[in-house]
This record gives sequence, C-alpha cells and structure tokens, in this order.
Amino acid sequence: MAENLFITADTKAARYAELLPQIEALTNVEPDLTANLANTAAALRQAFGFFWVGFYLVKGDELVLGPFQGPIACTRIRKGRGVCGTSWAEARTVLVPDVEEFPGHIACSSDSKSEIVVPVLKNGAVVAVLDVDSDKLNDFDHDDKLALEQLMVMASAWF
Ligand code: SME
Repeated sequence: MAENLFITADTKAARYAELLPQIEALTNVEPDLTANLANTAAALRQAFGFFWVGFYLVKGDELVLGPFQGPIACTRIRKGRGVCGTSWAEARTVLVPDVEEFPGHIACSSDSKSEIVVPVLKNGAVVAVLDVDSDKLNDFDHDDKLALEQLMVMASAWF
C-alpha cells in the first residue's frame, strides 16, 4: 500500500492523472468508509494545496460533516441549501467561480472564494458530496470537474 504520494507533474490534469491511481491503490485494500474518505480528503489537499477539502454525508434530510482537511466547518446543511445542498438536491456537480455570486452560498469561512461540489451516487441516489474550497477566485475548471467526478465514481464503491 502506498503511504506516500508521488506527484511530479506540472499541469493540474496531469497531477490528477498521477493522483487518482494512488488513491485507488490506497483505498481498494481498505473496506472502511471513514478511512477511505479521510485519506481521499488528505490526498487531494496534499496534492493541490486546496484551502478545504471534505465530505458531507447524507443523513436523513440533512448533510452532516464527514472526514475533511482544513479549518473547522459547518456541521449540518439542509437539502437545497448552499452549494453542497444544491449539488445534493440536483444530483450534479456545482462549480462556483466566485462564491459571492452564488445565491445562498454558506460561508463556513470568509477565506473561501471559489468552490466545487461533486455528488457521490449509489444506486441512483446521492449518498454524500465532496466539497473542495479554494482561497482563490475562479480556481476550478473542467479538469477538476472531470477528475473529481471520476474520483467520486470510485468513491461510490466504498458506500
Ligand atoms: N460553502 C458550502 C458549505 C460548506 S463549507 O464551504 C466547508 C456551501 O455553500 O454549501
């Protein structure tokens, strides 16, 4: 099992291409959901230096904070609220170049400037969302969307 990450590429797409197989190697030998979500959040933050990376898990009619890396965050988000709750309600990735332009954005930290939220789908239902926040405006693009969606397909097998 890899216990160190090896990320050497310069471009973001190439760094994701290096990272995803390493997360796969790290998680496919581990049956515990919390362990795999925790290492995935850590790996993404380590590889890209994002401000905040974490999971919210669907529990009843709310999202509840799960494993994350970064400053403390809001613990519960209702369906349809904020970027995370919108991703859950609409079962789609939500990419927000400027959080101040997103109606209803939940500001866990005023340092968060842009954000991408990707749902994890299991048998057609959202079971969790991955939330990645940056302290830079417009920090996420199609490369992040593609790679993180691919990663969340992998993650759905952990649920
Ligand atoms: N900004 C998110 C809330 C979660 S924190 O950013 C960690 C939202 O609007 O759903």
